[in-house]
Amino acid sequence: MKLVFCFFGLATVASTERACDNGWLPYRNHCYWFSSNPATFHYAVDTCSERGSNLIEIRDAAEDKWVLLQSLIRGFSQVWIGLTDIVDEGIYVYPSDGAKSVYLNWNIGQPSGGAGENCAAIRTPFQKWHDFPCSNNVSYICKKPAKHFV
Ligand SMILES: *[C@@H]1O[C@H](CO)[C@@H](O)[C@H](O)[C@H]1NC(C)=O
Repeated sequence: MKLVFCFFGLATVASTERACDNGWLPYRNHCYWFSSNPATFHYAVDTCSERGSNLIEIRDAAEDKWVLLQSLIRGFSQVWIGLTDIVDEGIYVYPSDGAKSVYLNWNIGQPSGGAGENCAAIRTPFQKWHDFPCSNNVSYICKKPAKHFV
């Protein structure tokens, strides 16, 4: 009898629990948080970490397009993404695990900044990415796995 009650209780929690916390937007099996204050790349990485997430690492074209849509809705002109060549010039990796990027969407002629521009951002009017000085203040998006699939 006790066991039955326990299972019923768990099922109730699972069905009413939201996939994403308040203020986080669900997309596929992740939750996204959009900054309202532009910040440096370093600050963006730290803020996402404090929120139990990573600065967004864009893994495919569909996600890239959805993020562009959300950024344009919010009036972001530039958006930090988790991608940097701060260690090896020209080799762009994800800050979370240091792995080489699996998907890229550079604008024509980008990245172009050499050692002076080691962080990647979406340039929303061009719908493409460019490299940018990491110390500039730019909008950013945090991403974390959803609590259960949506
Ligand atoms: C970025 O914002 C910080 C905090 O407001 C400010 O101190 C800094 O000068 C800004 N950096 C640039 C490059 O504008």
